[in-house]
Amino acid sequence: METKKQKLLLELSINDESYELAVGPQETLLEVLRNHLGLTGTKEGCDTGECGSCTVLIDGKPVLSCLTLALNCRNKKIVTIEGLGKEGAMTIVQNAFLEKGAVQCGFCTPGMVLATTALLEEMPAPSDRETKKALEGHLCRCTGYNKILEAVGLAVARSSGGSAGT
Ligand code: FES
Ligand code: FES
Repeated sequence: METKKQKLLLELSINDESYELAVGPQETLLEVLRNHLGLTGTKEGCDTGECGSCTVLIDGKPVLSCLTLALNCRNKKIVTIEGLGKEGAMTIVQNAFLEKGAVQCGFCTPGMVLATTALLEEMPAPSDRETKKALEGHLCRCTGYNKILEAVGLAVARSSGGSAGT
């Protein structure tokens, strides 16, 4: 006989909004964001922790939401790509990606932008090495990475001394 897995009530803080929902014990944060809440800016690529497209910020740090159980996100502050910027205005990082042509199909972009945002919050003037390290594990099938690195360089230049905009 099949045992039914009970859903549990969970309260999540996402993009400064509070959500209460019932989730299964094995449901990932990625599934909850996309399937329960319609926050489809967080992309589902490999679903195995290899591509970075499902990256969100949890308490300011980039995290792979496909490898994170939703139940482990209680009392944490989650930011998705939908939560960046204020009143519809794009952040410095988002503008830099657009200006430098670092967005083609856009599938990797939310993860890249969030990883860059977290990097600039932690260190306003990262070295090339630190930038590459922060974007390690983020795969892009379109741009060849040069434009992405140029975009991050532009964002660094513009945000030195300020906030990257979460
Ligand atoms: Fe999470 Fe690829 S979907 S790392
Ligand atoms: Fe298409 Fe990166 S812009 S995967």
